[in-house]
Amino acid sequence: MLTLRVNGEAHEVEADGDMPLAYVLRNLLGLKGTKIGCGLEQCGACTVLVDGQAAQSCAAPAATFEGREIVTVEGLSSDPLGRRVQDAFVDAGAAQCGYCTAGLVVAVTALAKDSDAPRDRDGLKSALAPHLCRCGTHPRVLAAAEAVLEDRA
Ligand code: FES
Ligand code: FES
Repeated sequence: MLTLRVNGEAHEVEADGDMPLAYVLRNLLGLKGTKIGCGLEQCGACTVLVDGQAAQSCAAPAATFEGREIVTVEGLSSDPLGRRVQDAFVDAGAAQCGYCTAGLVVAVTALAKDSDAPRDRDGLKSALAPHLCRCGTHPRVLAAAEAVLEDRA
């Protein structure tokens, strides 16, 4: 039995502590927004916020997240800044198949919350480099990120 705090609520789940967090989120808590792409911490699709920082969830055991505050893309809707990032992605048309999108929305939200994060295009490119997009949406993702982050410079 694991106790995980997700999107502001405590959840008791019957899971082996070695199960990666993304599988718990998707298969036991029904939070399908978090995607599993590579499963090897190589693509960013599974990114969630953990104590306010972007973290990949596809390989790390769920037990290591007990006692921490996890926020998925679904939980960002009730966070004004997260909502703003979601809207910026919509406005910029920053998705095609959408498989990478939740991870990128979470990552941009983490950057927007971090006053030390880069605000210029090159810095944003580097910060978002761990996120792969097979559909080539990077320019629109950067436009969405800039639209949110330039107000917070
Ligand atoms: S699915 Fe986690 S980094 Fe690719
Ligand atoms: S929109 Fe398809 S992988 Fe990024």
